Amino acid sequence: MAESVVIMDESGEPNPYLLGVYAPVQDEITADELTVIGRIPADLNGVYLRNGPNARYPMKGRYHWFDGDGMVHAVHFENGRARYRNRWVRTRAFEAESAAGRSLWTGVMENPKANPFGNARGLPFKDTANTDLIFHRGRVLASWYLCGSPYGLDPLSLETLGADTFLDTLNGDMMAHPKVDERTGELFWFDYGPRPPYLRYGVVGAGGRVEHCVEVDLPGARLPHDMAITRHHAILMDLPLYQDLDAARQGRYKLTFDRELPARFGVIPRRGQAHEIRWFEAKPCYIYHVVNAWEEGDEITLDVCRVARPSPSGDGSPLARMVSYLKLDARMYRYRFDLRTGTTSEGYVDPDHNTEFPSIDARATGYPTRYAYNVSVADAATNLFDGLVRYDNVTGAKESYFYGPGVYGSEAPFAPRDGSTGEDDGYLVSFVTDEREGRSEVRILHAARISEGPIARVLLPRRVPLGFHATWVRAEQLRRTPR
Ligand SMILES: [Fe+2]
Repeated sequence: MAESVVIMDESGEPNPYLLGVYAPVQDEITADELTVIGRIPADLNGVYLRNGPNARYPMKGRYHWFDGDGMVHAVHFENGRARYRNRWVRTRAFEAESAAGRSLWTGVMENPKANPFGNARGLPFKDTANTDLIFHRGRVLASWYLCGSPYGLDPLSLETLGADTFLDTLNGDMMAHPKVDERTGELFWFDYGPRPPYLRYGVVGAGGRVEHCVEVDLPGARLPHDMAITRHHAILMDLPLYQDLDAARQGRYKLTFDRELPARFGVIPRRGQAHEIRWFEAKPCYIYHVVNAWEEGDEITLDVCRVARPSPSGDGSPLARMVSYLKLDARMYRYRFDLRTGTTSEGYVDPDHNTEFPSIDARATGYPTRYAYNVSVADAATNLFDGLVRYDNVTGAKESYFYGPGVYGSEAPFAPRDGSTGEDDGYLVSFVTDEREGRSEVRILHAARISEGPIARVLLPRRVPLGFHATWVRAEQLRRTPR
């Protein structure tokens, strides 16, 4: 098998996120004669898509894993067959660098002041659209963790449809993890930045326009990554991890975790005004990802993967600190917010296992869910997902599946089978990559019985580098939704 060209940065240090299972690939392919071990279920119909950083050109300055150009790898399942393709997201920055034939931006490890342009707020980093994917109104939106333009993609061809303006109603940017309520067709989002307003919260209506947007008052710039919705509310976060302003003034990017400050959760009616937000305080922490949230009477439940100590270790070199900060160390955790009393209760769902990148049945986002499907984070120097964990929050049962030595996976969304009647009536689908052989495949598991291992393995003609978030688009969504 042809191995990809190794893209290096200018630091002179070998960067683990440009090597081995992370090394970017340099071609875009389509493959439909794929070898299958086992049998692809005939009732698994839809598309598995995964986003991630894939540098096209050698980076100016040091490379941070989050800097790579967004590339989507996808497998379309139809009537027991599978088709693979991968495409870069054609962002404005990607097109500018393509025209120049080289890298024009520095990443977050370097002073960005000479970069050509940034996001709508003027943050001067390259909007790579490399972080998440979410299906809404007929297209998949590729998003960026520092807030950027959501780029529409055709879920089958992966053609970039352009920066999505929501029918010319989106002013500013959108964060990486907007939430879609499939029952109402609405999409909920925020954007944030280093200057006021530090946080804005908005709603795209079922017709595709931004119908609601309010500025949320925060004590300073924060780095919120995710949010939650419930039937009547949205939940925003003010967590005590933020950019060190003194370092920022010197052009350096440094994060500080303030253990003296509480974590705060802002519960706002879905179409509420800023003064209607109610803040619930909890122990200090950082949270990358929400599992789900829902209402039961006057109480809101919020399940998350919670990072108790978001601080870097390592030997102090910029690269070591970066690698250390990136290392996910989270536990499944539950908050309850009492809307009558304003009080918070909190505690571990699973205090032992480092799990992250949670997925649920997307049809139930914002409504009660019983199951969460998380990745197991390997005990390693870099971010590696060595298996999957299924949580049952009614019985407390936990079931695991590990890929095997040297084999690492991706986020594994729940893929309902045709006619699915429940949130575990379907499959989990994930790319896995074998670091020794440099090969990748897709593994398909019964969501209700993951410990039994894969029911099918689809061998891919190329290595899929490890990446960020994934989504599943159901066949019936492909057929019926307007674009
Ligand atoms: Fe994320």
